[in-house]
Amino acid sequence: MHIISTVAELRQRLKKQKSIAFVPTMGNLHAGHIHLVELARQHGQCVVVSIFVNPLQFGAHEDLASYPRTLEADLAKLKLAGADIVFTPNEHEIYPVPQTLTVEPPAIANELCGASRPDHFRGVATVALKLFNMVQPQVAVFGKKDFQQLFIIRELVRQLNLPIEIIAGETVREPDGLAMSSRNGYLNPLQRMEAQRLHRALQQVVKAVESGQRDFSALESQAVQHLIQHGWVVDYISVRSATSLAPATLDDHDLVVLGAARQGQTRLIDSLECCAAT
Ligand code: PAF
Repeated sequence: MHIISTVAELRQRLKKQKSIAFVPTMGNLHAGHIHLVELARQHGQCVVVSIFVNPLQFGAHEDLASYPRTLEADLAKLKLAGADIVFTPNEHEIYPVPQTLTVEPPAIANELCGASRPDHFRGVATVALKLFNMVQPQVAVFGKKDFQQLFIIRELVRQLNLPIEIIAGETVREPDGLAMSSRNGYLNPLQRMEAQRLHRALQQVVKAVESGQRDFSALESQAVQHLIQHGWVVDYISVRSATSLAPATLDDHDLVVLGAARQGQTRLIDSLECCAAT
């Protein structure tokens, strides 16, 4: 496994590779990331993983400074998982000049997570395009937990004609159902016990939708109320079309239930796909 921190060396190393599968990450790797690396293994001969905590996607009062940085442990996990190249650039390598040119994501970027994290998806789309240009993969793998991010990356690739196939990895969960996330490490033991309720609340909505309930906003409000009663601060619970991410209508069949809520200072997100009962 090669650990590379400059774009020049990365390009040199990848020059002759015709089958690159890429997993962009911000490090602090857990089983969810390793699943993405394994998927990448199935889709490319050379697996490249990037580790870069991207300042452009953090708001002024967010957790950029405290975001967990665990490079040594990450490298050990990636070696075991069979990554070929780990790209670990510093901030200057990715942003040698002020990034005055950014990718304007589609309007959906202002909804859901974007409503409380303005500019977040501009930062994600911009760094994703830059990393795609640096690595030039044939395949890139993203997790479904960040369903809105996955959607925006697919739009980036589609609308900017990038020759990259996007593969989606299933969410990997703790035994109690909590979606694995680097931010779970911020939770104290009580919050950690409570955290699985977000997943359970989404499951309740899925169950109702699959059993034929169609008053989506009532289901959303019930889930929000339930979480508030248990001390959560809820950003949103939303039933959406899985194909357009627009609010679900009676005509939609493939749906996704998305949620974001806070336990103390820690903001957790999750999503579950489901099919409307016919
Ligand atoms: O999902 C993440 O870890 C990040 O948003 C990504 C895609 C690596 C871009 O910084």
